[in-house]
Amino acid sequence: MSGRLQGKAAIVAGAGSGASGIGIGQAISVVLGREGASVLVVDKVAERAEATLRAIQEHRGNGAVFVGDVSRPADCEAMVKAAVENFGGLDILVNNAAISPHVPITETSLELYESVMSVNLRGSFMACKYAIPALIARGGGSVVNISSVAAIRDTGTTHPAYCVSKAAQLGLTVDLAGEYGRHNVRVNAVLPGMIATPLQESIGRVDDQTRARLNLLGRMGNAWDIAHAVLFLCSDEAAYITGVTLPVDGGATVAMPASAARAGARGKQ
Ligand SMILES: NC(=O)c1ccc[n+]([C@@H]2O[C@H](COP(=O)([O-])OP(=O)(O)OC[C@H]3O[C@@H](n4cnc5c(N)ncnc54)[C@H](O)[C@@H]3O)[C@@H](O)[C@H]2O)c1
Repeated sequence: MSGRLQGKAAIVAGAGSGASGIGIGQAISVVLGREGASVLVVDKVAERAEATLRAIQEHRGNGAVFVGDVSRPADCEAMVKAAVENFGGLDILVNNAAISPHVPITETSLELYESVMSVNLRGSFMACKYAIPALIARGGGSVVNISSVAAIRDTGTTHPAYCVSKAAQLGLTVDLAGEYGRHNVRVNAVLPGMIATPLQESIGRVDDQTRARLNLLGRMGNAWDIAHAVLFLCSDEAAYITGVTLPVDGGATVAMPASAARAGARGKQ
């Protein structure tokens, strides 16, 4: 099926890729564009946003670049205005921008804590604050907050400020789903597991084979796995789905140590 988002207008915040290789926001932008949405590609780094717009256009999609920093509330307001001006309205908001410093709590300064919150949590909060009236003006729409399995599970590394911000995004999701359901605004969260992206590579604390053993499918996910879940949640096929927190993690959140042992035993057969 194609054209599932024909005529829709979308914002993807954090639409670039932090290094060479496809990031999650980039894959989401391409998939939404490929399905017919006009995509406002928002990133604080102009070249990253421009690269994503080129990728959308290579797939015959349509979009525009907005260089902005979601930690600045004025930028969140301006990006919504830009989407409405460029595309005539807004139907979809994807909050994907995040930073993830791996620093233990004892070494986390107040400045570092607040910088993580200002991007990961306050950015999503402010983007929703300004986007929701625009979604309501269109008769409804869809918000997808990109959280993380790190919001609900230990991932074997320490990034406490990040985990707090990602858990709080789930509270935001549930509150807004409750408040705006009657306006046909659906608000959901996607929780990526171990996804092979430039961000993940830069962390590089656990090798890919070990990470793959930690889920039920035995492989790392990729940015397209997340993008397809987001596409579904934004499409009319998910018209009766709101307030959910959907892990896209190869079953990692239901796996136990026994799962890895079983995978190991199978490997020996
Ligand atoms: N990669 C994983 O394994 C993984 C796992 C769980 C959750 N996630 C989540 O998925 C999302 C994307 O991750 P990724 O690995 O593709 O990251 P990435 O670093 O490749 O991409 C993030 C993009 O957001 C942009 N950005 C950062 N701060 C911004 C700001 N203040 N304003 C505007 N743009 C900003 C960056 O410039 C970058 O282009 C994040 O929310 C991350 O927490 C990723």
